[in-house]
Amino acid sequence: MEGVIDAVTRDLLTRTPGFDWGVTEFVRVVDACLPPRVFHRHCPELARPGVTTPSGVPVQLQLLGADPEALAANARQALRLGATGLDLNFGCPAKLVNRHDGGASLLRDPRRVHAAVLAVSRAVGDEIPVTAKIRLGFSDRRLALACALATQDAGAQRLVVHGRTRDEGYRPPAHWEWIGRIHQRLSIPVVANGDIWTLEDYWKARTLSGCRDVMLGRGALADPWLAARIRHWQATGERLPGTPWRARAQILADFAALQRSTLPERVVTALIKQWLNHMRQRDDEAARRFQAVKRLRELDALLAGLEPPAAATWPPLSVRAETA
Ligand SMILES: Cc1cc2nc3c(=O)[nH]c(=O)nc-3n(C[C@H](O)[C@H](O)[C@H](O)COP(=O)(O)O)c2cc1C
Repeated sequence: MEGVIDAVTRDLLTRTPGFDWGVTEFVRVVDACLPPRVFHRHCPELARPGVTTPSGVPVQLQLLGADPEALAANARQALRLGATGLDLNFGCPAKLVNRHDGGASLLRDPRRVHAAVLAVSRAVGDEIPVTAKIRLGFSDRRLALACALATQDAGAQRLVVHGRTRDEGYRPPAHWEWIGRIHQRLSIPVVANGDIWTLEDYWKARTLSGCRDVMLGRGALADPWLAARIRHWQATGERLPGTPWRARAQILADFAALQRSTLPERVVTALIKQWLNHMRQRDDEAARRFQAVKRLRELDALLAGLEPPAAATWPPLSVRAETA
């Protein structure tokens, strides 16, 4: 997620078993073939064997663009740099991106979605998988199925569907039943996305969409153990207890420790507040802490306000062993 889930966050989120794969923030492709440093900045995991997080979860590089030739050139560049999977973004609702003909704006014309996916699929051949992410449309859902079929016909090997149109932004609800209509018609795996914040949401999204897999976005920031929670339930039929504040505080402290070695303190301070802001949507203690620290400018003062304990182990060890 652009500006939110970078390599450090991916590392922290995948330390507990739960995620099968992750995706980078999008690399914006306009017309030129971008230099290697851009790909490495978005995907430092390229330097690791297999392009995985330190815990071994594969990471796909995401491209966002409209021009098939430019996308193909950048796909080849990514392949040369060792990418093990490429994802194409047709979901971004940002006005600036859409005005410059990228992200969800392509959903107005399934032929353009097809051309973009085909160009990338041909560029990488059968060396690495190409996948795609769409919303249900731009202003309405009339072209949802046509766009989904376009990705499949052009060679996408998996499709993530965010169950809203571009104009619906992030307003609830996500229309999981619409994802189901797409899932019924496609032969490639379809992954349901949107508004999965809890284990109960996961059940409903699976039931209404019929999809086997889901993609977590903001829910994984609000509760960094949501993926583990889902996995644990799949494996045992049991619910993990709610995520305690000490575990949230610890992950924020770990985040600060990793980020401050490379980023200015004011940036790290802003990033921690951003993550805490996601946590407070679903947790009362995080909401209280956010109110208490939101005006602090010093990183150490902010961390003191979060009071991370010396050692916090979460989930309980017995649970980790069961889900491994
Ligand atoms: C701040 C922000 C940045 C995002 N950046 C990306 C991105 O770079 N690529 C992408 O495919 N989706 C991106 N998304 C969309 C999410 O991946 C996801 O589809 C959307 O938030 C709905 O799922 P959720 O309700 O689980 O968050 C972004 C969402 C947000 C809120």
